[in-house]
Amino acid sequence: MTRKLIVGNWKMNGNLAANQDLLHAVSAGLAGAACQVAVCVPAPYLAQAHQAATHGLLTGAQDVSAHEQGAFTGEVSAAMLRDFGVRFAIVGHSERRQYHGETDADVATKAQRALAAGITPIVCVGETLAEREAGQTQAVVKRQLAAVIHTNGHCISEIVVAYEPVWAIGTGKTATPEQAQEVHALLRAQLAAATAHPERIALLYGGSMNAANAASLLAQNDIDGGLIGGASLKAADFLTIVAAASH
Ligand code: 13P
Repeated sequence: MTRKLIVGNWKMNGNLAANQDLLHAVSAGLAGAACQVAVCVPAPYLAQAHQAATHGLLTGAQDVSAHEQGAFTGEVSAAMLRDFGVRFAIVGHSERRQYHGETDADVATKAQRALAAGITPIVCVGETLAEREAGQTQAVVKRQLAAVIHTNGHCISEIVVAYEPVWAIGTGKTATPEQAQEVHALLRAQLAAATAHPERIALLYGGSMNAANAASLLAQNDIDGGLIGGASLKAADFLTIVAAASH
């Protein structure tokens, strides 16, 4: 990876007026940024984000249906996302695994739907605190990524992977740069066994990344960017992270 990738995950936050301010402020702050930047917004605001994002700001969705089309009330298909210029779709975020029962197989199918529509899936993996304390971190992230590799075969070099330790999400507890790097190196090795070009795959870190700790995380060998929740809702903080990724 040469250019880093910084992605904001707004989660279920925002409204039309506040989004407009945030999209304008973030876009305006991107002049001269030497990394790729995207915001993943709630589905009803994808059209707004598509229109208001300028200066190279890309847009993304926070989920995508595992189905192509049809009688799936409430679902949003990859083709629909594509209609709104969406470049990325987060799949398998821990909040969806935890609160919506998404399985490894569901996540793999969602990644496949996104890829088929020309959308880059940001595949989230990560262990819970209990799993870390039981020494299962490596086994858990490997199992989660293996399902996506198995289903997506040679397309795997087109995905983005985000390592998000569940215990670090929204808690203010960040993985140390060394803890994150250790898992990223493992994921890179797993991808290297599946594709000739593992270096093409951006490996993002997510979990309480903020303006103060971004630089040290992004300085690690295998950390190619960040997936940012809370700090992506404040333009100044998000742009500080973008600046840290632009060196
Ligand atoms: P926070 O940055 O709020 O911890 O959220 C991380 C995350 O879940 C991004 O997808």
